[in-house]
Amino acid sequence: WIKTVIVLAVAYFIGSITSGDIVARIKKVDLRSLGSGNIGATNTFRVLGSFYGAVVLAGDIVKGILAVLLGHYVLGSFHGFDMAILTGVFAVIGHNWPVHAGFKGGKGIATSAGVMIGLTPVSILAALPVWLAVFLLSGYVSLASIVAAIAYPVSVFLFYHDDPYKQFLALIIAVLAIYRHHSNIKRLLRGEEHRILYKHRGGD
Ligand code: G3P
Repeated sequence: WIKTVIVLAVAYFIGSITSGDIVARIKKVDLRSLGSGNIGATNTFRVLGSFYGAVVLAGDIVKGILAVLLGHYVLGSFHGFDMAILTGVFAVIGHNWPVHAGFKGGKGIATSAGVMIGLTPVSILAALPVWLAVFLLSGYVSLASIVAAIAYPVSVFLFYHDDPYKQFLALIIAVLAIYRHHSNIKRLLRGEEHRILYKHRGGD
């Protein structure tokens, strides 16, 4: 049990290293006060451009994959339960609520994508086109993320129908993602959501 607790703490710690904060520190900008105020890849893209946006996206995806590998190889499975499911969820929680930043983290989409790649690769192949279609049609990353977060458990129920644990993972990932987008949902409903591009003057 002690080993499990330590590995889960490490997974949380991996998740809590938010790539956006690192890039922001290097570039000497405060992502939390620009654009949407989020420290994820979308807002990094909005504020610092596509290169840094891609760096943050890749960095946060890698955290999810690392957490799954950690659970898989260090903890293995417990009575048929793949412990990588727990380490994956802990990495997303670490990203969303990092203790060192006063629990003010990101929205967990990229880190969740890493967990999906590691645990349910077929379903990310289904969720990704949904994300892309909604993004291209609406121009809102947040709306794309929310709709893909709904599509993800649906595809896990379809493609992993004999694996209740992965279905449970998908539901948790979806609930966390939608919950973290509550301010985006409010802005979308008010018609005030930030688009992908951020203008320093005249709003976005
Ligand atoms: O992954 C976060 C994205 O869905 C929304 O980001 O910066 O527009 O709130 P943002």
